[in-house]
Amino acid sequence: MLTGGAGYIGAHTAVELINQGFEPLLIDNFSKSDRTLLKGVETIVNRKIVFLEGDCRDAVFLNTLFSKNKFDSVIHFAAYKSVKESVIHPMKYYDNNLGSMITLLQAMQQHNINEFIFSSSCTVYGQPDHIPVDEQAPFKRAESPYGATKQMCERILEDAVAANQNLKAISLRYFNPVGAHPSALIGEMPTDVPDNLVPYVTQTAAGLRPKLTVFGSDYSTPDGSCLRDFIHVVDLAQAHVKALEKINGMPTRMEAFNLGTGEGVSVLQLVKKFIEVTGVKLNYEVGSRRPGDVEKTYANADKANNLLGWKTKLSLEDALTDAWRWQKTL
Ligand code: WQD
Repeated sequence: MLTGGAGYIGAHTAVELINQGFEPLLIDNFSKSDRTLLKGVETIVNRKIVFLEGDCRDAVFLNTLFSKNKFDSVIHFAAYKSVKESVIHPMKYYDNNLGSMITLLQAMQQHNINEFIFSSSCTVYGQPDHIPVDEQAPFKRAESPYGATKQMCERILEDAVAANQNLKAISLRYFNPVGAHPSALIGEMPTDVPDNLVPYVTQTAAGLRPKLTVFGSDYSTPDGSCLRDFIHVVDLAQAHVKALEKINGMPTRMEAFNLGTGEGVSVLQLVKKFIEVTGVKLNYEVGSRRPGDVEKTYANADKANNLLGWKTKLSLEDALTDAWRWQKTL
């Protein structure tokens, strides 16, 4: 069962799961999505997908679902993910992100569903002391309520695994997911003004935004802009399939994996790469720093490579080309 299956990462993961012969059932409450990506998934895989509208905080909905269907595993994507929105509405983030996690884990235990894959984030590390950052890095104090919910959800998961000998869990810490499926039938669909860099770039290139502002050029990085690890969403989706396939062969019942390319790319480098690969004029300027931004981070993804047999295959050029192709369909 995939929660948040109508969302950006969930939809791309559904495609990769079906391609590998899995039979996912998707749920979503459409709070941050609509049916567009579900239709795109069906076109890509050329078959109907099993979907139910519902909320992970609704114990009655989950228990009914788990009574009627035998699930082997749950991949939990459903969560709010805007750093900015979480600062303005922290209780909405704690209620949704923690409430969903707790209710879901309780329902899973009641129905003896014992494989859980969690959509986590590199934001749990805050500004790491050493980069590339590995999974042993300590959790610094989260810069936002969104980041705090990801840290708390990982702790909730750890305690659930410790208390239930049957439960196995993998936490996947995404760096910066970017791009879209090469078919341009699914991609990122921000419901309002995008916080994230790449959708803002493509919307500006498409003329939907007057200009892109690069938040800060006085960081201690080669070109002064922040450093990130931009990972193609299809590579990211395939990591979930690998996690599902390998969850029974992990060293312990709770493992975390960084999912990134292992390469740091600056915001300005990405902007220039976008212009180069698309040939599109992009109106951008350098402005002041965005509060709460981590200066530089990128992944040490060796653990995922060694234990999951996974590493990224697609490039930043692929991601930016795919993101632009998707934007032009909107
Ligand atoms: C990346 C860089 C901005 C927009 C967050 C979460 C992470 C994950 C991705 C959800 C930063 C700069 C951005 C713009 C800019 N969660 N930027 N102009 O903050 O690294 O990570 O989103 O998916 O868990 O923490 O991603 O894309 O917002 O920003 O200059 O218009 O791009 O300052 O340096 P971030 P982002």
